[in-house]
Amino acid sequence: MAREPKNFDHLLGGKAKGLSDAQLQAHFTLYKGYVTKLNEITTKLAAADRSTPNYSFNEYSELRRREPVAFNGTVLHEMYFEGLGDGSTAPSAGVKDFIGNSFGSFDAWVADTKACLMSGHGWTLLCYDYESKKLINNLVQGEHHIGLFANVHVMAAFDAWEHAYFFDYQTGKAKYVESILTGLNWDVLSNRFKQVGAQL
Ligand SMILES: [Fe+2]
Repeated sequence: MAREPKNFDHLLGGKAKGLSDAQLQAHFTLYKGYVTKLNEITTKLAAADRSTPNYSFNEYSELRRREPVAFNGTVLHEMYFEGLGDGSTAPSAGVKDFIGNSFGSFDAWVADTKACLMSGHGWTLLCYDYESKKLINNLVQGEHHIGLFANVHVMAAFDAWEHAYFFDYQTGKAKYVESILTGLNWDVLSNRFKQVGAQL
């Protein structure tokens, strides 16, 4: 069954701090493109010939190689849009402790997240590491999948590809980063933390 793109129109009209409707609409269109491609790949994979897979080129092999781009492009954009807010929510004391226990302090997490976003040209993910039982930042170096940590649970996704901010900020990436990090929807993020057993 085809995957349907989620509707994030509730963010329009100033509900995503620092992001105009034009910027958001352009980003929604890009996100829907990933959903379309994911459905296309899924449909083609269902019927693809699996008898001659090949590292250099084969239709099945190439579909499998490109599938993570469409899959993560879909899922990470959904997590990103879900996490955006207007700054009206705040992290609880428990959430601040959960983050602080991993990064040293809540402010240290903010500083490291800003540094990650300014270091890369794409995604930075806040992840829960099941081995250390701590939150860690993961700078994804390529597209949506190259450099993604294993055995972690993504808690929050932050999009720093230029399409996410250029309409509103041009080269002023740091201002965009400041806006989204101070506008996060902490109700959504807190529920994600509870999924990995955080006692908030
Ligand atoms: Fe994006």
